Amino acid sequence: MEQISHIGVYTSGGDAPGMNAAIRAVVKAAHFHQLNITGIRLGYEGMIAGSMDAMSLKSVGNILHRGGTILKTARSEEFRTDDGKQKAYRQLKRFGIDALVAIGGDGTFTGANIFSKMFDFPVIGIPATIDNDLKGTDFTIGYDTALNTVLTSVDQIRDTAESHDRLFIVEVMGRDSGMIALHAGIAAGAEAVLVPEIGDNLTPLLERLDSARHVKSSKILIVAEGQEVGGGFEIGRIIKEKFPHYDTRVSILGHMQRGGSPSCSDRVLASRLGVAAVEGLLEGRSQEMVGVRHHEITYVPLDQAILQPSELNLNMLNLIDILS
Ligand code: F6P
Repeated sequence: MEQISHIGVYTSGGDAPGMNAAIRAVVKAAHFHQLNITGIRLGYEGMIAGSMDAMSLKSVGNILHRGGTILKTARSEEFRTDDGKQKAYRQLKRFGIDALVAIGGDGTFTGANIFSKMFDFPVIGIPATIDNDLKGTDFTIGYDTALNTVLTSVDQIRDTAESHDRLFIVEVMGRDSGMIALHAGIAAGAEAVLVPEIGDNLTPLLERLDSARHVKSSKILIVAEGQEVGGGFEIGRIIKEKFPHYDTRVSILGHMQRGGSPSCSDRVLASRLGVAAVEGLLEGRSQEMVGVRHHEITYVPLDQAILQPSELNLNMLNLIDILS
């Protein structure tokens, strides 16, 4: 296999705090190893359109602490087609790029994996999604920051819930993953958590609400958006109908969870993974995701990283019952 000399880096799918820190690390590591490095804008859309520029060390100055992604991101329908992938391949060749670092989540990696197999093109993935739903890494970039954002909000909701003796249903992100809901639920002392991984768990919750009516004045239920029964509004409707005596409110946290300055953990994780991605490519790795397991850098095949469902520790749901 030929030694790589020119890496293209891009962010794709939903953004996550710490993506900029990862871009910075990839660019700095590429310069350190005397490789050319090009930033591809808007993920696969920019790859197809040839929207890319060489990245100097200066281009990644003062971005370590910034949320979002300076390369911007998108979800590309065209890249799903063979024609779209052909166009992207031609653009990469035109710019002399011979390896890719893909920063994103499962959708990003699915595309990268197919592309890499189709054209025998070296690709390493860096896990960056607030959902923390990739296999082979203990944490994804952005998850810790999002959790802390959720926690700040839920603590504030608790203040007003307590003043009014209200039951709040707080919907958090997680289309296929209850990671944010479960961990924020434990950290915020929620009375219950509903996650997509176990389908309909509303019935036991309703029973508990019935018996716990007088136990605590305020109540917080955290619902992951992908929960089978429905999102926050639907759960709120069901609870209001069954327990009209509860003063119920619904709060959807939404995309504020994806913004903000990355936490210390996310900056360190992004920095480690960015350097390890470049070094992985130099070692001849491809079609792998770089991650962290038990504090150590690991590489897992992209095929495995994107397997569903997520590795949610369902035993932790018992904690909610004991601690609430
Ligand atoms: O980043 C992942 C995620 O936050 C999911 O939990 C959520 O369903 C999705 O992104 C929504 O993203 P968008 O609004 O950008 O399509």
